[in-house]
Amino acid sequence: MTAGGPRVLLTRRVPSSILEKLEAACDVQLEESALTPEQLRERIRDKQGLICVLTDRVDEPLLDAAPELKVVANIAVGYDNIDAPAAARRGVVVTNTPDVLTEATAELTWALILAAARRIAEGDRLVRRGAWKGWAIDFMLGTELRGKQLGIIGRGRIGRAVAAKAAAFGMTAVFAKQDMSIDELLISSDVISINTSLRPDTRHLIDRRALMRMKRSAILVNTARGPVIDEEALAWGLQEHLIAAAALDVYEKEPIVHEALLTMENVVLAPHLGSATRETRTAMIDLAVRNVIEVLQGREPLTPVKPGRA
Ligand code: DGY
Repeated sequence: MTAGGPRVLLTRRVPSSILEKLEAACDVQLEESALTPEQLRERIRDKQGLICVLTDRVDEPLLDAAPELKVVANIAVGYDNIDAPAAARRGVVVTNTPDVLTEATAELTWALILAAARRIAEGDRLVRRGAWKGWAIDFMLGTELRGKQLGIIGRGRIGRAVAAKAAAFGMTAVFAKQDMSIDELLISSDVISINTSLRPDTRHLIDRRALMRMKRSAILVNTARGPVIDEEALAWGLQEHLIAAAALDVYEKEPIVHEALLTMENVVLAPHLGSATRETRTAMIDLAVRNVIEVLQGREPLTPVKPGRA
């Protein structure tokens, strides 16, 4: 720890090689587990830097409690946990971790598409409870992807990386707003992938009205942020068979999942694993640490947030 260096609060344990890099430049206070908002406000009081995760809320009260704060580095690409305009008003730089998690999140998106189309999670549950009676000609038939349309909402890095893999499955990828309107995409797509950031204009973008436009055979996948889908509406839409299946990695009130979704066989539920590979998490933490060091040493951040991007 560099005593006398800029004081940084790190809200989670990180790999020791990265911690050493941070400690070589800063006076680090490391928290081993999640802090309550009150604890976070208390610990941030004398800090110039904060390295946090998406479950840490950085709001006006927290920023008000940290008069010396210069930089908040989120270990995530999404930063809806941070009041970025409030930080900007106080001259606090906010950074995120784009690029390094693009492939991991795109791979997880495809894992969910395939799991929903081929009923993998449902089949796994069936085998485990001893209900499998053996091969049958009409048993657990799924949906083939070849020749189908993948509609992607969100033209950022992750949406584009998801699209880049579509040809390998014989699918045609289309983007909302670029290739067609959102309504046209909802009406014509066989698989709909949500890859947009959470903003006021994307909150509950998928509501009852949107679900009513989708094909009854459609599969809806969300690896972005939970509140882009109105979960209550989704549960209703699945109950009414407006769409065939859903595969979710993110939820409106994590870690709580809408009760009805928990009981449905045609819903795949992952516990927010988009960026959860060893390689990607290490790269995300390393980037957040480098961002903090850059700012606290008087240089430009590597990846400052750009509010309003997809
Ligand atoms: C992100 O970085 O926003 C992801 O959701 C983290 O897994």
